[in-house]
Amino acid sequence: MDRRTRELRDAHDLLAPMYVERLAHILDEMPIEQAVLGLFCSLVRAEGGTTIGDVGCGTGRLAPYFATQGLRSRGVDLSPEMIRVARRDYPDHEFAEGDLRSLPFADASLDGAVGWYSMMYLPPEERPIAYAELARVIRPGGHFATAFKEGDDTLRRGGRSLDHKIGFDIWWQSQGEVQSRLTDAGFQVLFWAGRPAEPDEPQPQAYLVAQRV
Ligand SMILES: C[S@@+](CC[C@H](N)C(=O)[O-])C[C@H]1O[C@@H](n2cnc3c(N)ncnc32)[C@H](O)[C@@H]1O
Repeated sequence: MDRRTRELRDAHDLLAPMYVERLAHILDEMPIEQAVLGLFCSLVRAEGGTTIGDVGCGTGRLAPYFATQGLRSRGVDLSPEMIRVARRDYPDHEFAEGDLRSLPFADASLDGAVGWYSMMYLPPEERPIAYAELARVIRPGGHFATAFKEGDDTLRRGGRSLDHKIGFDIWWQSQGEVQSRLTDAGFQVLFWAGRPAEPDEPQPQAYLVAQRV
């Protein structure tokens, strides 16, 4: 494992308890994110889909939401501690350690996937690998939804604002960059949106939904 990936994994192992405490139910207070995820779920169901990946699933907080939408999610995360708490808190759902750049799913085995605030840690040269993996595991006609911190594509350090002695590389990405990555990997972008930063956020947030062609 390279230095950047190890640093990211170790940081998220430490962040897992804070994520559980602060974020477990935050989707209930986020109507815009519910709307984007709801659109994604409707599109998956409209194609007869039932099974989706949650890549970079963190604590697994989205799994119960997907279940309410009639979808079975299969979560994957780099951080063993994130996976441990996901299994503890959502024992009826499936979670596994894994990497976005080498997903533990068979070819065309998913009806869709989400990468919810999880693709933004990949350095530019490794993004094509991760998007190619999504194109491999999502069947033609399946969907992908992503959320990310929107910015100018420059490298930043994350984690500094938190009470942990951690740091990791993160990129606040532009909508255009993410759209190009998806198109290059064999997806058609169906929807994009964004919202301004809230008072406690340093940057706007962006959302995209795409279909595997
Ligand atoms: C900001 S958290 C978001 C977690 C979850 N999607 C959510 O919305 O609560 C980002 C997660 O992506 C995971 N992650 C980052 N890079 C990854 C990679 N290359 N492979 C798998 N997981 C990764 C981190 O370990 C972390 O749990």
